[in-house]
Amino acid sequence: MDTVSRRQFMTSVGAAGVGVLLGGCAGKADSKEVTAVEDLMREHGVLRRALFVYSEAAVRLRDNPLSVPPGALQKTASLFRAFGEDYHEKKLEEAYIFPAVRKAGGEAAGYIEILVEQHQRGRVITDYILALSRGAKIEADKVKPLASALESLVRMYRPHATREDTIIFPAWKQALTAKQLDEMGDKFEDIEREQFGADGFESAVRQISLIEQELGLADLAQFTAPKP
Ligand SMILES: [Fe+2]
Ligand SMILES: [Fe+2]
Repeated sequence: MDTVSRRQFMTSVGAAGVGVLLGGCAGKADSKEVTAVEDLMREHGVLRRALFVYSEAAVRLRDNPLSVPPGALQKTASLFRAFGEDYHEKKLEEAYIFPAVRKAGGEAAGYIEILVEQHQRGRVITDYILALSRGAKIEADKVKPLASALESLVRMYRPHATREDTIIFPAWKQALTAKQLDEMGDKFEDIEREQFGADGFESAVRQISLIEQELGLADLAQFTAPKP
């Protein structure tokens, strides 16, 4: 093989290689799609970060009320409302997950009623947090009731989300065929786009990150537990 044909050979292999590579990428694009259950669970991740803000805020409120900027609570509750209650709970769980799990029956179905009740109670508590954090300052006689409301929401929502993660979502996945599950993944993406525009999840992560920064909760290393 002379130099010229060798170069042509290498070039065509190169092009074919690129073709294979692109083909590989296109195939991978599907496996990189966020599945419906992953979608629900990472939404819980955002909500857990909001709950962490609430529990830290409750401790500070009892300790030194002035150390909690009401705006940070207002933003957290607004995010919990828009992303957690109006989207995750109402548009996904109550519209798709719970009816299917109820219909499938079994242990998981027995949880649905209480889960819906907890969604409703959560909304009442969010209303309360939104109302008390609206002003420039939290009224002195409302500091303790607010701290208690934050703690009670955290206490309710932690086991709520973990039951969903470990019992409800697996039962839902079990009740669906692979094709149905794939379709639900696409549907959830459509609903997310309809509700928030292109990047509902990414935007929620950005919002909670900013709130964490404002409250000095952004540095993860500070939470590494001390040795006993
Ligand atoms: Fe829920
Ligand atoms: Fe949930």
